[in-house]
Formats: sequence, structure tokens, C-alpha cells
Amino acid sequence: MFKKKKGLILSLTVASSILLATGCSSSTSGSDSGKGKDGDLPAVGATIYKFDDNFMSYVRRAMDTAAKGKVNLMLNDSQNDQSKQIEQVDTLIAKGAKSLAINLVDPKAAQTIIDKAKPKSIPVIFFNKEPDASVLKGYDKAYYVGTTSSESGVLQGELIAKAWEANKDKYDKNKDGKIQYVLLKGEPGHPDAEARTKFAISTVKEKGIDVEELAMDTGMWDATKATEKMDAWLAKYNDKIEFVIANNDGMALGAIASLEKAGYFTGDKFMPVVGVDAIPEALEMIEKGKMVGSVLNDAKNQGKATIDLAANAAKSKDVLDGTEWKLDDSKAVRVPYIIVTKDNIQVGRDAYK
Ligand code: BGC
Ligand code: CA
Repeated sequence: MFKKKKGLILSLTVASSILLATGCSSSTSGSDSGKGKDGDLPAVGATIYKFDDNFMSYVRRAMDTAAKGKVNLMLNDSQNDQSKQIEQVDTLIAKGAKSLAINLVDPKAAQTIIDKAKPKSIPVIFFNKEPDASVLKGYDKAYYVGTTSSESGVLQGELIAKAWEANKDKYDKNKDGKIQYVLLKGEPGHPDAEARTKFAISTVKEKGIDVEELAMDTGMWDATKATEKMDAWLAKYNDKIEFVIANNDGMALGAIASLEKAGYFTGDKFMPVVGVDAIPEALEMIEKGKMVGSVLNDAKNQGKATIDLAANAAKSKDVLDGTEWKLDDSKAVRVPYIIVTKDNIQVGRDAYK
């Protein structure tokens, strides 16, 4: 199932690169006037840091759905290349984008994007990778749509602690009362990767549970990289590993693939694995008992909020006009996270419908 999905995402990436080569990656045609073909829809220029990211493929789908009939969405795959993304922004502005929705490659590049948009008074909605608050503050037409990163870490920690307390007999293989864990972090410098690492561990400790880190690696949010890492860790630590903490589901799925190869999840051989996102492929693993749980990162609402704000901005309206979203003090819409286990799996299903 997961393999199939990857194939699909890969072929979408190829398709979009072809479209990119012809100068337009969106399903609607962006004309130079910045107007769409159906009824003068305002043009919104958007970039996703890379289409080949499990979670972002769901955000992208939600954006496409929300854009239908509302805006002419010109959506680009930045292919994990910040300089490519900056060129795409130049092109989008030249094509008459009335607002920009930007999923940065490097969170530190926000100012460079603003420097291009601000002289032309083009609003910018950053999403998923949160820029520094000071950068958002420096441009009155800059906003952020995402989450409160620390919240996912706290919830992940609560999920780990609860599972450990309930299954200590089985999970604490060396009976020392401590969790010997390995951690797949995600992209270094990404606010979600940093906060999840910090708050997952601190929350477990606050619950009075001792931990010992055996190994940590970036894994770069990527399933294949996570499989390779987990293979190496199993070879090195084998039975010493008592918990696998993955900061997203893509990496959790990659770790599970490695564990399955090593004979886990058959007979008595078990390894608790947690992730974040609650994407459908992970929900399947939770259902099968191969994953303890995940933390819902609501792709649908983040995609929708991004388009809602970008559409209003493109029409020079108040960004919240006619929407249910709220902005906090740092001009951010923050969609809440929710713990997902087998008990409330429907919450995840509904969010990714
Ligand atoms: C998600 C990851 C994703 C990353 C991309 C995070 O919020 O949890 O799955 O790879 O965003 O920036
Ligand atoms: Ca132990």
C-alpha cells in the first residue's frame, strides 16, 4: 500500500516537472494578466517545498480542492531546492500572481521571498514551515498557516508515556525502568523537527519516566532514509532498542519496513513505534497493531486555510473574510493537533477523507 503510494507520488513529481518545464505546473492555466480562464479568477502563486513528501502530498491535494472555482492556483514543485523556489517566485510574480502561498524549502529563506513580494505589495501566506516571527512582523501582508510545533511534541510525549505505562512488562526488555529509544528527527532547523524532539522527550520525563537515547538521526522526513537508519540501528543495538520515536509518519513507516524485515510484528517480537501526521498509510499500521499511535497533523484544514487566506489576499480583502480561521498575535492560523490511537482512529480517517 505504502509502496504503491510512493509510486504515485513519484509519477506525480515527474508529471509536474514536465508541466514546470512548459512554464506552468497548475491544472488551471495561468495567463499573463493573472486571470484564470473560468470567470476571471484571481491568480494565486504557490510553491510546495517538494511534491515527493508524504504529508505535503495531502496538503497539496487539500489546496487543489479548496482552490477549485475560487482562484487560479499556479502550483510549483520546488524539488527541495531553495534557489529553484526563488526563481519560481520570480516567475509567479511576472505572471501576475495577486498573492503567494509559500511552503519554504529552507525556513530561513522567508525574508528573501518577502523582499521580492513587498515592493509590489503582494501578500505572502507562508505555510507548513514557520518563518521567524520577526520576519513576519516586518511585512504587514505576511501571514503563516500551520500548527503550534511544540504541541505535537507534547502530545507525542503523552502518547509514548501512556503506551509505556500500560505495557512496561513487555516494552522494558532489560527491566531497568528506562526507555532505551532511537529517534528519527526530520529536517534539522525545521521548527516541527526541533520542537517534536525537544518536547516529546521532556514530556516523557515530566511524567516521571527515565529515558536513554541510543541513537538519533535526521531521517529528513523520508521513509527510505528511515529504513536505512533503522537497518543500521538494528544491526548495532538489536534487542537493546525499546522504542522507536519518529517525528513524522513517513519515517515511522520506513522504520516499520525495516523492523518487518528483521522479523518484528510476528509472534512475540514487537517494537513500539510512534509517528506524527496520522496519514492514511499510518492509520493502516495502527489498525494492524504495528504502530502504537500518531499525532494528527491536519493536512486538510491547513491546505484549506492556506487557500482561504491566499484567495482573500488576492482579492485585497481581509485575509479572514468569510472564514472560520483566527489569527494569533504573530499573524498565524494554527490548526490543532490530536493524538490518534486505535481507539479514536476515525478522527484520523475523517481528517484525511
Ligand atoms: C510534517 C512532515 C513533513 C514536514 C514537511 C511536517 O509538519 O509532519 O511529515 O515532512 O512537515 O515540511
Ligand atoms: Ca529499559
